[in-house]
Amino acid sequence: MNAAGETSRLPRIEAPTQRLFFALWPSEEVRSGLAEVMASLDVRRAKPVPAENLHITLLFLGSVTTQTRTCAEKIAEGIAGHPFELSLDHIGFWPKSGILWLGARELPESLAALVRDLHLGIAGCGIDLDARPFSPHVTLMRKALVARRERPLGAVAWRVDEFVLVESKATRDGSHYQVLTSWRLGADSCGAQAS
Ligand code: 2AM
Repeated sequence: MNAAGETSRLPRIEAPTQRLFFALWPSEEVRSGLAEVMASLDVRRAKPVPAENLHITLLFLGSVTTQTRTCAEKIAEGIAGHPFELSLDHIGFWPKSGILWLGARELPESLAALVRDLHLGIAGCGIDLDARPFSPHVTLMRKALVARRERPLGAVAWRVDEFVLVESKATRDGSHYQVLTSWRLGADSCGAQAS
């Protein structure tokens, strides 16, 4: 309201936001291993995730302002962490969401610590975070109708030595992901790398 008691007709200016998430981003070699697993599945009525979009989400931030992004990047910068081996060794299916995924039976302690440190630190940036326990998985297909029993398959071995911040943009052709920043894991860490 102004001094004369009139409600302002000026449009509210919203701070620009970006839809962000922390992730593990596969190398080309791991990506082709993931693509091979996808090609070996016999699933009807499903929407495959494009090979260039395959990843493991560590922490989904949602739409955040530049200020919050800066806060999240500072937290990431402060994480030393350790490289680890991840073995993606089983297929799972969430019938409610129709998501078919490739996951790791064993959660390496360094990965659990990385997610825990990110979660604890970024909660302090004022973001409402998902409280569900972390379940490491690569979403392979969405909108699948058929529930499949888990079955053994050739595991995809993934040596993880960095994590990344990704922007998700909705396009006419679906989600487009862009890696914004990456951080090395380990004592010889040399900090953030902008992409
Ligand atoms: P997913 O990890 O099960 O595939 C970008 O949207 C990524 O963040 C996707 O990989 C997605 O699911 C994950 N994600 C986690 N929580 C989400 C949410 N509330 N909305 C959208 N994506 C979310």
